[in-house]
This record gives sequence, structure tokens and C-alpha cells, in this order.
Amino acid sequence: MLFRNRFLLLLALAALLAFLSLSLQFFHLIPMSAARNGASSKSRKRIMPDPVTEPPVTDPVYEALLYCNIPRVAERSMEGHAPHHFKLVSVHVLIRHGDRYPLYAIPKTKRPEIDCTLMANRKPYHPKLEAFVNHMSKGSGSSFESPLNSMPLYPNHALCEMGELTQTGVVQHLQNGQLLGDIYLKKHKLLPSDWSPDQLYLETTGRTRTLQSGLALLYGFLPDFDWKKIYFRHQPSVLFCSGNCYCPVRNQYLEKEQRRQYLLRLKNSQLEQTYGEMAKIVNVPTKLLRAANPIDSMLCHFCHNVSFPCTSSGCFDMEHFKVIKMHQIEDEKERRKKRLYLGYSLLGAHPILNQTIDRMQRIAEGRKDEVFALYSAHDVTLSPVLSALGLSEARFPRFAARLIFELWQDREKPSEHSVRILYNGVDVTFHTFFCQDHHKRSSKPMCPLENLVRFVKRDMFVTLDSSSTNYHDACHREGV
Ligand SMILES: *[C@@H]1O[C@H](CO)[C@@H](O)[C@H](O)[C@H]1NC(C)=O
Ligand SMILES: *[C@@H]1O[C@H](CO)[C@@H](O)[C@H](O)[C@H]1NC(C)=O
Repeated sequence: MLFRNRFLLLLALAALLAFLSLSLQFFHLIPMSAARNGASSKSRKRIMPDPVTEPPVTDPVYEALLYCNIPRVAERSMEGHAPHHFKLVSVHVLIRHGDRYPLYAIPKTKRPEIDCTLMANRKPYHPKLEAFVNHMSKGSGSSFESPLNSMPLYPNHALCEMGELTQTGVVQHLQNGQLLGDIYLKKHKLLPSDWSPDQLYLETTGRTRTLQSGLALLYGFLPDFDWKKIYFRHQPSVLFCSGNCYCPVRNQYLEKEQRRQYLLRLKNSQLEQTYGEMAKIVNVPTKLLRAANPIDSMLCHFCHNVSFPCTSSGCFDMEHFKVIKMHQIEDEKERRKKRLYLGYSLLGAHPILNQTIDRMQRIAEGRKDEVFALYSAHDVTLSPVLSALGLSEARFPRFAARLIFELWQDREKPSEHSVRILYNGVDVTFHTFFCQDHHKRSSKPMCPLENLVRFVKRDMFVTLDSSSTNYHDACHREGV
């Protein structure tokens, strides 16, 4: 036990060092122009993080640490970078909620003892933490669309409830918010000092953890958090598709994708054996253990440095953890190859992308509202959006992951607008389907907004199958 704790500590240190050296690489060694000329993009296999610090072979423990996203000081970020004659005119932020308690309990074991109250003397800490709690505890009822108005505004249980946001999760988003506020508000003056409520567009799914994550991010972001200027809309669908959710073909892709997942799992005898061993430890049928999704719980133990559960028949251990995590990674690899998930994603992500370009186009036409949009969401929201944009090499969305769309206006040609896409602070614009060969065709330093618009309105359906050119046809095609 002691050995494993030391091991975890060493791993955390190693990861910290890796990140520090990565940030150094990023800020001092790679000049801005190299990041923009696209030459570097081809040599990269996975988008985040750079291969420089990556272990030579896929390491499930390293991957799990990235997933935890334990808050640390040195955060690298390329948000808000553009040539001088470009002006930032709008920003759209899609986040995954922060670190949370598991969604399922492992049968017949004690739940991990994690405290979901927010305390200044506990790590991780953020300088705005106490002020956040203070402000939230004086919450105003009119800032939320029903049913959000009945939800607690910050986590507050001495033993976390299932799925509850933890202090780590709050700190992750306070940090995201502060980082984005420094760049977008302080540096680029995205909002005027007398900004009005309709310049923010805020939307969250109806989960406590997404609402609270959105609030923490905003609290870190805004210099003066004023309840009168905040209004969160409720999004009933995790795909953010409300009004346009009916799409039979998308569901067919999903069913095929799930079948693929199932068959891959059956082929992995080491995985089956591991589930078998774990089921014996807790003395339930293997099927029941698997259904309880033990990796989700084990990740919580791992991220919070709490030892894995034990019974009188033994303990879950690091070897079990590695086998299941490794299978997840292999599953994602096969998922990319088979492209069923891509089909699901193109249709699943269309409505939120359509909503985003709609907002961008209105700004480009000169409107001044909804300059900053925040969508607070889930891994099952971000994953399809990443995949639909062509960022399938990006890792599975970690806790508090952020995907950002920036809209820039060329001051020299005010009718021209460009977009940048950033995932967890990394500029991935030239990895996307709609701008990956931009530099071959154009000498412009930035990716034109029209590329994204054309992709969302039409090309994404052509990517799917050449016979459809719009969402409705693509959703109702016969015989996929
Ligand atoms: C993990 O927990 C052990 C005690 O159980 C502690 O000694 C160690 O410092 C912790 N490691 C980290 C990285 O917090
Ligand atoms: C796309 O956006 C337009 C403009 O807001 C809207 O009228 C249309 O219904 C949207 N379509 C889909 C499929 O989301």
C-alpha cells in the first residue's frame, strides 16, 4: 500500500516535470510562426500533448494522469494569439465539467471517502475559492432558466454524492476562467467595461456539475461577477441539439458503433480475465461488475490518491486499472479506424456547430450581442464535436477540458473574418477538416470563417456520404 502511494506520488511529480518542460518548450523554443505555418502539424501523431514528453509507448498510467487534469501552476495556452492587425470579436467556449465523484458505485465495496465541501485549507486551492463560495451562497433566483433555478450553486456535501463536482473540479474551472479572462478581457478587451447581459450567452445541461462548472468558470473569468448580468439557459440534450434532435441515421451509427465496441471487448481475453478477477474480489457476477463501470470509480480513486477498494477476498489494484484503461485506449484507436463514430459525430455535432457559426456570422455582420458564449457540457458532448471537426487524434476529453472557437476581424479588411480552434490551450485550427490544407491553397495566416461555415452548412454531410448536402437529408437517408 505504502509502495503504491509512493509510486503515485512519483508519477505525479514526473507528470509535473513533464508539463513544466513542455511549457518551456512551448513558450521559448517554438516560435509563433512555426506554430502557424502548419509544417509542424504533419509530424504530430496525437494532438495533445506534444510528442516531446510523451512516453514512447502508450502508457495507461500517463494517460490517466492527463485525464485527471490535476490543477497546477504552469498552464500552457495559445488562446488569443493572432497577427497584430487582427481584432478579437467573439469567443465560444465548450467545456466538460470538472472533476467529479463517480457516477456508479462498485458493488459491495465502500465508496471512496471524498469530501465535496469547498475548503481553503485543502488542495487544490485557487485564490478565488472563498470569494466564489461567498458569492454563490448569495445566489439570485432569476439568473437561471427552469429547472436550473432549483439547483445548488456549488458542491457542498461532506461525503460527495454520486456525480457531484469536487473541489478539484471547481478549482479547475476557476483556473480556466481566470486564464481566459486574462487573455480575452484584460488583454483583448472582448467586453466593454459597461457590458450588458445580452453580450454573454450561457447554456448548460441540467446537471448540477455542469451548472456549477459553468459558474466557477464565469466567476474566474469576469472581473465583477454580478448576478443581474447572468442568465443560464437550460439545454435538455447532451448533444445540445434541442429542436433538431430527431435524426434516425445518427442513431443507426451509434448502434453500429456500440456493436463494434462490444465485439472488441469480447476479443480482449486479458480484459475478460481482469473483470473476472475483480468480480471474484467483490463476489458478484462478472456481468454485474462490468455494468457498474468500475473504471470510472477507479479513476476517481486514482485522481484523488485514494487506495483502490478492498474486500476480505482481496483488493482491486494497479494491474486491473492498467488493463481496463489500456483497453479504453485501444477502443479509441479502433473507433478512429472504423469511422462509425465519425458518422455519429458529424450528425450529432451539427446542431451545436450550426448554432455556433450562426452566432459568429451575426457578429461578423456587426451585431454586438452574444460576444462570449459558454456551453457547459459533458465528455459525450465534446467527443463528437472534436471528432466531427476532424480532431479525432485529440485525446478523450479530460476533466474541465475546453474547446474554444475564436472569431477575429482583419482590421485592414474589416469584412474579412477568421477563426481559430483551440483544444485545452493548443491551437488545432490546422488539424481540422475545414482548414487542414489551408496553407497549400492560401497565403493567409489565419483560417477564414467561410471555411468553417461551408463545412458546417454542407461539407460535413459530404464527408459522411456524398449524396447528402444537408442535415435533414443526411439524418433520413435509407440503408446506411
Ligand atoms: C497520496 O497519499 C499518501 C497517503 O495516503 C501521501 O503520503 C502522499 O503524499 C499522497 N500523494 C500525493 C501525490 O498527494
Ligand atoms: C441551423 O441554424 C439556423 C439558423 O439559426 C436554423 O434556422 C436551423 O434550424 C439550424 N439547423 C439545424 C439543423 O440545427
